[in-house]
Amino acid sequence: MTGFEFPGQYYEIMRGDFRDLAAETEFLASLAPAGGRVLDLGCGTGTNLRELGARGFSCLGADQSASFIEYARTAGGEGVEYVHDRVETFTCDDRFDLVYSIFMTLNYLPRAELQPVLRKIRGMLRPGGHVVLEFGHLLDFVEGYQQHTVAHHRGDGVLITRLARQSINPHAANWRNEETLLVREIDGQVAMYDNFFDQAVLTGPEVRGLLADVGLTVTVEYGGFRKEYAPGHGRGPLVMVATAEEASSV
Ligand SMILES: C[S@@+](CC[C@H](N)C(=O)[O-])C[C@H]1O[C@@H](n2cnc3c(N)ncnc32)[C@H](O)[C@@H]1O
Repeated sequence: MTGFEFPGQYYEIMRGDFRDLAAETEFLASLAPAGGRVLDLGCGTGTNLRELGARGFSCLGADQSASFIEYARTAGGEGVEYVHDRVETFTCDDRFDLVYSIFMTLNYLPRAELQPVLRKIRGMLRPGGHVVLEFGHLLDFVEGYQQHTVAHHRGDGVLITRLARQSINPHAANWRNEETLLVREIDGQVAMYDNFFDQAVLTGPEVRGLLADVGLTVTVEYGGFRKEYAPGHGRGPLVMVATAEEASSV
């Protein structure tokens, strides 16, 4: 079960505190030809796709959150379309130059769905197309673990206080997040939203293995979207770029 059913503008404010959108845009744009076709799996509120659409790419996004897809559609953007669907059930006859799933979306999928989803992604690639995966891996979870957290996010005159309770199920290697968002609007009105999600604690070798199983070869790995070196000690973000092997028998 996955949440993210709260107004998209609040997600956008929080996202801005965590992410480097300019670097993400440069990185993703560098992996598709001009005007190429791009798919964002777990596109959230469409933040990345609006940037890529503005650069002339033809964009499609899918996300399971009705609230986020509604926000994304309202926010519009050149050449960007959205589908309200889960990654596991999403199907499309199109082929893409770039398929990506970033900011931990892969972690929200049930483990058993990872291989079928990656196989589906491979089948959606145009010749020479790229896959970009950025997911939370073991050390992110270990180092980020705090039983209770309180964080404040501000933007557009809105104050969001996020109260989160985290727990780990070591047997399933799952991380559970139960959070309450307290939102004070610019006019002083206060609203409260519950958000709940489970995430699979993935590892680099696990994802590399799954990619290889479906005939996707990792061509390069970075420690961030500014193409930082992925350090051997395994801390920090991990961005994988993969392409399809030529043999279509996998
Ligand atoms: C942390 S957000 C990242 C969103 C977006 N990729 C970004 O960078 O802003 C995780 C997103 O994954 C979506 N999600 C989680 N599980 C999903 C699933 N099974 N299928 C589709 N979307 C999913 C959530 O609705 C949420 O929008």
